[in-house]
Amino acid sequence: MIDAEILTVTAEHVQKLLSQDSSGHDWWHIDRVRRNSMRIARDEGADLIVTELAALLHDIADWKFHEGDESAGPRAARHWLNQCQARPAVIEHVCEIIATVSFKGAGVVTEMRSVEGRCVQDGDRLDAMGAIGIARAFAFGGHFGRTMHEPESAPLMHQTFAAYKQKGGPTINHFYEKLLLLKDRMQTTTGKRLAVERHRFMEKFLEQFFAEWNGSPLTSVRHAIDDTVRIKNASHDDECG
Ligand code: ADP
Ligand code: NI
Repeated sequence: MIDAEILTVTAEHVQKLLSQDSSGHDWWHIDRVRRNSMRIARDEGADLIVTELAALLHDIADWKFHEGDESAGPRAARHWLNQCQARPAVIEHVCEIIATVSFKGAGVVTEMRSVEGRCVQDGDRLDAMGAIGIARAFAFGGHFGRTMHEPESAPLMHQTFAAYKQKGGPTINHFYEKLLLLKDRMQTTTGKRLAVERHRFMEKFLEQFFAEWNGSPLTSVRHAIDDTVRIKNASHDDECG
């Protein structure tokens, strides 16, 4: 198969595999990571075929869904790319990226060897941040039966991948254990730039979350919108009345 065909059938294959996922690892996550990664890859002058294939295949058999088996992802990708008769060097490179792309704990360094790897890792990490990142975190938490927030439970800065794999804990802690750390771990110029606004949005979200949780007098955005609608309706009633 030529590269363009491999990309088309791979996208179809992944879409079928992940269409029903409700943990934040669905096809649209893959599609967004593909777009993020390709945008970064163009700026970085990276190989676009390797980047796109690795982005498409990076979550087809994630360790989080395979009893912690971190070899499941690269194995499934290799099997698929062999079937497509992709070039051996491409297969090796894509599998290497998939094996190393995942976040492995606050205290664990996960540097990517190749520029293509850095593009995919930054593309994946951008999708764990901002409004989408918040939505995905709570989808993941609900899927795995995690509580939303436990005021007495402190976040843990995992020093090993084994400890990170074992982790439970409420979803709010995940912001401190991973999501708020990502901005400073971006590896490409474009990734760093795109991470800034998403990081700020998560900080604002947490500020509002805790204000509401603690019953602070801060007017929530939702109330502000409701008030505006009520005032508008009242003046409309007056005019008609
Ligand atoms: P990675 O492999 O780097 O962790 P993924 O693309 O698999 O990246 O997505 C991981 C995403 O899943 C997180 O960014 C988050 O949205 C969600 N997630 C993972 N672990 C948790 C958790 N313990 N609580 C809430 N969300 C989580
Ligand atoms: Ni992912």
